[in-house]
Amino acid sequence: MNFKTDKLLHGGDYNPEQWLNRPDILEQDINMLEESGCNVVTLGVFSWSTLEPEEGNFQFGWLEEIIENLYRKGISTILATPSGARPKWMADKYPEVLRVDDTRRRMLFGERHNHCYTSPVYREKTAMINRKLAEKLGSHPGVILWHISNEYGGECHCPLCQSAFRKWLKERYGTIENLNDQWCTTFWSHTYQNFEQIESPSLIGERNLHALNLDWKRFVTYQTADFIRHEVQALRDGGSSLPVTANLMYYYQGLDYFKIAKELDIVSWDTYPTWHKEEVIETAYDNGMCHDLMRSLKRKPFFQMESCPTSTNWQSVSKLKKPGVLFAQSMQAVAHGGEGALYFQVRQSRGASEKFHGAVIDHYGGNDTRVFREVCKTGDAMKRLSQLAGSTVRSKAAIVYDWDSQWAMEDSQGPRNKGLHYLEAVQKFYRGFRQQGLNVDLVDMDCEIDSYEILALPMVYMFKAGFAQKVRTFVKNGGVLVTTYWSGIADDTDRCFLKGTPHDLMDVLGIRSTEIDGLYDWEENQMVPTEGNELGLTRSYTCRYLCDLVEMRGSRALMTYGSDFYKGYSALTVNDYGKGSAWYVAADGEQSFYEDFIKALLKHCSISGAVGCDIPRGLEITTREKEGVRYYLYQNFGTEPVRIPIPEADVECIYGDMEKELPVYELVVLKQKI
Ligand code: GLA
Ligand code: ZN
Repeated sequence: MNFKTDKLLHGGDYNPEQWLNRPDILEQDINMLEESGCNVVTLGVFSWSTLEPEEGNFQFGWLEEIIENLYRKGISTILATPSGARPKWMADKYPEVLRVDDTRRRMLFGERHNHCYTSPVYREKTAMINRKLAEKLGSHPGVILWHISNEYGGECHCPLCQSAFRKWLKERYGTIENLNDQWCTTFWSHTYQNFEQIESPSLIGERNLHALNLDWKRFVTYQTADFIRHEVQALRDGGSSLPVTANLMYYYQGLDYFKIAKELDIVSWDTYPTWHKEEVIETAYDNGMCHDLMRSLKRKPFFQMESCPTSTNWQSVSKLKKPGVLFAQSMQAVAHGGEGALYFQVRQSRGASEKFHGAVIDHYGGNDTRVFREVCKTGDAMKRLSQLAGSTVRSKAAIVYDWDSQWAMEDSQGPRNKGLHYLEAVQKFYRGFRQQGLNVDLVDMDCEIDSYEILALPMVYMFKAGFAQKVRTFVKNGGVLVTTYWSGIADDTDRCFLKGTPHDLMDVLGIRSTEIDGLYDWEENQMVPTEGNELGLTRSYTCRYLCDLVEMRGSRALMTYGSDFYKGYSALTVNDYGKGSAWYVAADGEQSFYEDFIKALLKHCSISGAVGCDIPRGLEITTREKEGVRYYLYQNFGTEPVRIPIPEADVECIYGDMEKELPVYELVVLKQKI
């Protein structure tokens, strides 16, 4: 099912249940939402104890009234299921709903996001309230989308979850002999005789059987997805056919989001970047890459479910968003293919743990605040750009980002327990592409890759069955492949490949990785260009952390190491394969290496970005397309106003001023017929 909107969403999480004794405030909230160009709110997240104050006593009247009042002012509702936090009566009466940690300790009531996903009681209680919500409010014209729970995450090790895990393993492996073989349990004498003996990983038990750890993580994703399906089914049983979303988190490692996204009609996510801790453009790339990941999960528009209008209260320093940053961050979600941006939250709570978290309406409560004015400006931009709703992003470049591979790689001992710097490796490629104005998708190993022109595999440690073959076909048909050190090392159950790595791509790349050197934090090596190399690289770059030593099997070296016993060994190679080419980056080069290398490589392979040229530092350019129209979005995340490079074909400016220099944090949107 698709979620369709004819406007860009703008609004936020709203918890009116905290203000039911203040009708004056509830009225003021709606007026201020309207004034600030908010067209949607998320209701009901964490409202369970107000919706069902005692077991079986359902009180939905207050919610219906608020949905209705909002609707009358043109503000829609994304209605949450309340499973993110359960009421006290439930924990007291049914302790099985409480989570058990990995040391097998059952938690007390408190906090949130901490229920057992397997518990039949919790499932029964969520099904009941979800069904009733759907029956009562699911067909209200003001309700446009379901928000399932809140920020799914965490794991439960209770006996119910243990037996579900064993069942899952049995279905996956069939026999215990097969499991023993795939998990390499002979190591340290850990052979199992039957599935009943298997326990989830624990700090006080087994934690170094990597395949067990990996399968446990996979199971947690499976069980969470199953719980989501269960929640959605209850809404369907209540007669609602509305699409569903769940709010995901920044590179959250606890769940494989490619799998979770399959349960959702539209992805949404919560973003809390720490602006001004580094150059603003660096944070913009970081946030932009996560937007691109969220969009890539379904290769469909997504939206920003939460972000703070000003300072959060849970980060180590509560930094105010400087003027212009709220606007720039919200519009960046749109620039990267989002259907809009929502805030956490509409009205600041009066007490408890988030009382100092930024909000659209603060404790003072007036519309004459700096933050409120910027929300109004953002609302105006969202309205003026509503034609962008439903447009999609087409990318020529993709980077493989795979949860299984990362889980296995980070869990291994060696080659660098002090840190593999994996996410940075992904980001270095990303920045290289973005600086040439390319849209970028992030894909996992199961995704289709044939539609891309260039594919990067930074540290893709695990090659799942069939993946190398897919990459091979991609290159054969003319694709440009760039892979790096520490790729193609282990299989689906984290067993090392025999007979050389990168597994099944050695002939495509024309190299074999023989050894990998872990560097101390203070150590570095150099990547030195070879005379007359085919990309015309002339600079030397430092490299750190990991240096791969390759044996040349037909490829050509463009760079070599500058020091240590492997001085002169290849550090960057290329091999022709079929109609394409396969490049191998042997070491963790500095950022400027990736920038220069990718720039030269794209030129060499005739792959051009949105405006076909280098982009001034600090400027982000993205494109979206819809029904014969292309939109160019320019955002200045630099420190000075910049002149923007304009595409050669005819364009119409629909936001900002393309003739003038683009001020810092501002936006220009151009429209072109294609
Ligand atoms: C998360 C949660 C919200 C709120 C915010 C605060 O994203 O989903 O309920 O706690 O953090 O930043
Ligand atoms: Zn459990």
